[in-house]
Amino acid sequence: MTGDRLDPQAVAALLGRSLLKTPDYDDAALDALIGAAEAFARLDKAGVKTPFLPHELAYAVFFDNSTRTKSAWAGAAARLGMQPVIVDGSSTQVAHGETAEETGAMLGMNAHAMGIRHDLILGEGRAFLKDLKKGIDDYLGATEDPRQVPIVNLQCDLDHPTQSLADLLFLREKFGDVRGKKITVSWAYSPSYAKPLSVPQGLIMLLSRFGADLTLAHPEGYPLLDEALDVARTQSAASGGSFTVTHDMDAAFQGAHVVYPKSWGPLDMMWERVQHKDKLAQIEARMLAQNAQHKDWICDERRMALTADAQYMHCLPADIGDEVAHSVLDRFRVDLAREANKKVYVIMAMLATAKVPGLAEKLNKALEGLK
Ligand code: CP
Repeated sequence: MTGDRLDPQAVAALLGRSLLKTPDYDDAALDALIGAAEAFARLDKAGVKTPFLPHELAYAVFFDNSTRTKSAWAGAAARLGMQPVIVDGSSTQVAHGETAEETGAMLGMNAHAMGIRHDLILGEGRAFLKDLKKGIDDYLGATEDPRQVPIVNLQCDLDHPTQSLADLLFLREKFGDVRGKKITVSWAYSPSYAKPLSVPQGLIMLLSRFGADLTLAHPEGYPLLDEALDVARTQSAASGGSFTVTHDMDAAFQGAHVVYPKSWGPLDMMWERVQHKDKLAQIEARMLAQNAQHKDWICDERRMALTADAQYMHCLPADIGDEVAHSVLDRFRVDLAREANKKVYVIMAMLATAKVPGLAEKLNKALEGLK
């Protein structure tokens, strides 16, 4: 980006790319993607239509529940002129054992972009995405089919890039720059279910690139995957920010500019699920019993008073009354909707940068029209 103009070369370098996790994109690629997302947001707000991909099929498969991401996928596809289709993964032949690679080949025959949510079992989501991509790429290569069929990770076990990028867009709108901002990503108590690790992992893997002073807080027994922690440590050092891990939620809130308290599952038992799929219900009950030992990990008014008048964030859905006090959530309800709304523009940017030749020129011309 130069000023509010997109760099045509940097954006063109994203043609054909699939974002499976944010660390795969170097700074120039990420900057181009964020610039495109912010351009789409500005144009949409001004009522400018951007149907750059008419008559194309945007096919998404969800192996877990979703409200926001499904709607953002459909909203992004519609704004680009694509036809969105969203399928429940348990209704596909994957449930009968068809492989990800074969599924990719079959879906890639017809689709022009694929979104996948596969976040429940550690290691499996990211493997599924990779194999699916191989299936599509092999099919397109073997049949000399010139279509670009990018894969969008709509949440796997490691990363939730459409969420972390939506969060970053929201933070840039609020603060301009996250450099030097104290941002706390904290575990919070949930009685509802053992939530995936990919939201906090996605946040620390992304925000550590931009010089933020990041704190990760959780009780003993709730570490994130080493892969994500290593990325956060390395990037924080390189970006001039900092990355601290603590088991003290109060200390993590002290002086924070942004707090992002949400639950995730205890790591040992998340791994146990990988080995014992026949005992998922029993493992889940033990995970919730362990969560219940930490009911005091709540984002309430007392803790918010420790912060530097912090912005409260959450990917949603939140367990209201457990992860966060009703009054805190109520104060930030509109901001939370704004945060969630950014995802539609992130997905538009992922689809359009991968598929639309001359995208930067088209967006720059449309942005000129706003002046
Ligand atoms: N935050 C998020 O990904 O929401 P959904 O699970 O509703 O898609």
